[in-house]
Amino acid sequence: MTTLSPLRRLRENGRERIEILDQTILPYRKHWLRLDSADDALFAISNMQVRGAPLIGIVAAYGLALGLGAGASNKAMDAAAARLSAARPTAVNLSWALRRMCERLSPLPIAERATAAWAEADAIAEEDIRQNRKIGEHGLALLRSLAETGRNRTLQLMTHCNAGWLATAGYGTALAPVYVGREENLEAHVWVSETRPRNQGLLTAWELLEAGAPHTLIADNAAGLLLLEGRIDAIIVGADRIAANGDVANKIGTSLKAIAARHCGTKFYVAAPGGTFDFTARTGKDIPLEIRNDDEMRYVCGQDKNGNYGKLQHAFDATAIYNPAFDITPAEFITAIITERGVCAPNAAALAELFPEKNTHV
Ligand code: MRU
Repeated sequence: MTTLSPLRRLRENGRERIEILDQTILPYRKHWLRLDSADDALFAISNMQVRGAPLIGIVAAYGLALGLGAGASNKAMDAAAARLSAARPTAVNLSWALRRMCERLSPLPIAERATAAWAEADAIAEEDIRQNRKIGEHGLALLRSLAETGRNRTLQLMTHCNAGWLATAGYGTALAPVYVGREENLEAHVWVSETRPRNQGLLTAWELLEAGAPHTLIADNAAGLLLLEGRIDAIIVGADRIAANGDVANKIGTSLKAIAARHCGTKFYVAAPGGTFDFTARTGKDIPLEIRNDDEMRYVCGQDKNGNYGKLQHAFDATAIYNPAFDITPAEFITAIITERGVCAPNAAALAELFPEKNTHV
């Protein structure tokens, strides 16, 4: 299967470039946007033209490579990495990828850094696809056991936000088991919650549609009803940062689903690659949570019957708005974490054993 990806690598007149699928206008328009500079990458990440923890790390790595073309001294490199790193605070893959780039590039002579930066960013993107495929295989084993013990019906999964191929270099994290399952003859139906206010669920619905995978869109508020009715076999979500004790930062609304799943005895899985684990955060309380612009709630985007794309005011100007973009799901509500290295219990000892190189606390 060709790996679907929101990233394209270009080489034009001997110059390296990337193109991204602009996610601010998906699913209405499929537009590839060329990034020419570190500033373009910074803008794309901050304004969510690219989004999803692994993808923003990868685009930041390419952004640094673009920046080094204009100057690769230690000062220039550190400044570009610091600016990119500050673009979004919660997804740790961003600082993880930039740290990896700087550690690889710093020992090199200045003249060699720009070329090496493209090679390292490519390596990060390729590794992401391999890791996500592995997450898909480990997750599929879990889905198979659920399908065997489950009711006599197609496996019913629920996800939140978008943790599919659009959020990574390929395959996705939470949706990787669904895609690998399709390659290996396990069909699942995915209930996709809209994920207000930015509606990343629409991106999930779009990419599942592109893949021909059965799915149904629901309003976020419908999740409790489906869980209480016993219509969901498992919830799978991605993550933006996972603390040493297994607490998970993910898209706002994730914790509500986890708490409801616990009440209903439904399995709740988190799928994430190594770059999402941050053991310098002892618990979720140490994870910075991004508060985004009021306008994300004040306006809705969409297209009219004539196909014209636009923005409509949704909340009244004078209404006070609070727009946290992420929440923390306490480890106690998580059944297991699916990683490229295997499936792990959400506790400090198990995570430290799986990722010993990150172990700063246990
Ligand atoms: O604000 P976003 O759209 O970047 O948030 C994305 C999420 O919360 C995803 O669930 C998470 O990054 C996992 S992506 C594989």
